[in-house]
Amino acid sequence: MAKKIIAVLGATGAQGGGLCRAILDDRDGFSVRALTRDLKSAKAEELARLGAEVVEADVDDEKSLERAFTGAYGAFCVTFFWAHFSPEKEMAEVAAMAKAAKAANLQHVAWSTLEDTRKWVPLDDNRMPTLQGKYKVPHFDGKGESNQYFRDAGVPTTFLLTSFYWDNFIYFGMGPKKGPDGKLAITLPMGNKKLPGIAAEDIGKCAYGVFKAGPDFTGKTIGIAGELLTGAQMAAAFTRALGREVVYNSVPPEVYRTFGFPGADDLGNMFQFKRDFEEYFCGVRDPKFSRSLNPELQSFDQWLAANKSRIPLE
Ligand SMILES: NC(=O)c1ccc[n+]([C@@H]2O[C@H](COP(=O)([O-])OP(=O)(O)OC[C@H]3O[C@@H](n4cnc5c(N)ncnc54)[C@H](OP(=O)(O)O)[C@@H]3O)[C@@H](O)[C@H]2O)c1
Repeated sequence: MAKKIIAVLGATGAQGGGLCRAILDDRDGFSVRALTRDLKSAKAEELARLGAEVVEADVDDEKSLERAFTGAYGAFCVTFFWAHFSPEKEMAEVAAMAKAAKAANLQHVAWSTLEDTRKWVPLDDNRMPTLQGKYKVPHFDGKGESNQYFRDAGVPTTFLLTSFYWDNFIYFGMGPKKGPDGKLAITLPMGNKKLPGIAAEDIGKCAYGVFKAGPDFTGKTIGIAGELLTGAQMAAAFTRALGREVVYNSVPPEVYRTFGFPGADDLGNMFQFKRDFEEYFCGVRDPKFSRSLNPELQSFDQWLAANKSRIPLE
């Protein structure tokens, strides 16, 4: 039987890359079409070497998406907020993805989305500032608002709510840093609330579980996480993994928002949303369910054991 082709956006990145590797490792009923803007990049060539069909596509070029989706069974859709910081751009990209998915008659799309936080924190709720004029958490809200494009287009879609990547401790500058007392600390504005986290690689593996389950999950919203941990629990895990003390430095969101790196206000609001709506946010991201999609789902301890040497330490 012909294998079902999954067209994967962000194939050379974290989420899409995990999905490509999951399909290529399994080779059971599915094959990968990896979408990239640059066929000649080292990551694209590596995917081709592993057996992926690699084709050119740009989320800002609807025709290229339609070409890349044609003949596929399904697609993994993801946007790249941190490349431009614009929810409007994300929404235009998702609208183009949904149109292309419909035109290509895809039978299953997994869309990597997040909550529109304005449903919980309306713009006139002053607990956190409104950003870019009409958002509370811009990199969440645009994704949540975009869910409607797939619904309106009538595309069979699974709305995949992702979680904080533990890889942010490597790449996003969130790893342990020395405080004035000389102790290593991770700094988060979460108080004593739990933060759902996941190895970025596991998002794609869970998405593969979604495609394998097929129609059972179309039209559904599902959340995934590797573990739900407080800042103190993550600091204790760092201490165990690194063999030196790491403490948790809890700061108020209003302080986090002033940290000055690009997107600090967006992330300050995001963490505050996760803190203030912990019961909802953790409730829809069940690690047990995530493990049913991806039996290899990593715990934070496992992720740290495999990645601690990649975390930059002062
Ligand atoms: N960091 C977190 O904790 C976290 C958690 C949940 C959700 N997210 C969300 O995850 C999303 C990013 O996903 P990711 O981390 O998997 O991305 P990533 O690792 O940054 O992947 C970027 C890849 O996307 C491709 N890309 C970028 N712009 C493109 C375009 N215009 N057209 C086609 N491909 C393009 C690039 O591939 P080529 O160069 O090969 O074209 C690149 O390799 C963001 O929207 C973010 O909000 C992040």
